[in-house]
Amino acid sequence: MSEPLNDMINRQLHHRTIRYFTDEPLPQETLTQLVAVAQHTATSHYLQSFSVLSITDRHLRGQIAAIAKQPYINQNGHLFVFVADQHCAAVIAQQAGVSQTHLGSTDKFIQAVSDAVLAAQNVVNAAESLGWGPCCSAVF
Ligand SMILES: Cc1cc2nc3c(=O)[nH]c(=O)nc-3n(C[C@H](O)[C@H](O)[C@H](O)COP(=O)(O)O)c2cc1C
Repeated sequence: MSEPLNDMINRQLHHRTIRYFTDEPLPQETLTQLVAVAQHTATSHYLQSFSVLSITDRHLRGQIAAIAKQPYINQNGHLFVFVADQHCAAVIAQQAGVSQTHLGSTDKFIQAVSDAVLAAQNVVNAAESLGWGPCCSAVF
C-alpha cells in the first residue's frame, strides 16, 4: 500500500483497541471537545437520535462493567456511554401535537443505533488523534 496521504489516515491505519488504562484523567477541555465532535457527527434525517453520557460514578461504572461483562470498564479511563435515544424526537413530536407512533418502528430504531455508533466512532477517531487509547464495547 502507498504511504498514508495524511496524518488522519495514518492514525486510522494504526488504530488499535486499548483495554488497559492509566489513571490520567481526561482534561475538561478534551471532554468538552470530544462531546462536540459527537454532536457534529452526521445523523440519519438529522434527528440526532442518540445521547452521550459521561459516567463518573464509580459504583455505577462497576454495575455497567458487570452487566457488560467487561471489567476494564471500571478500571481507570473515562467512560462515555452512547445511547440510541429517541427521547428528544418524542418530546418535539409531543410539543408539535403530532403522532410519536413511527418512532417505535424498526427503521427508526436502527437509525438511532447507527447514529449512536457513528458518533462513537467519530469520538474514537478524535480521541486517538489526541493520543488517547479508546475501546468500544457494545451492550444491548
Ligand atoms: C461495536 C463494537 C463493540 C465492541 N465490543 C467490544 C467488547 O465488548 N469488548 C472488547 O474487548 N472489545 C470490543 N470491541 C473492540 C473490538 O473487539 C476490536 O475493535 C477488534 O477486536 C479489532 O481490534 P482493533 O480495534 O485493535 O483493530 C468492540 C468494537 C466495536 C466496534
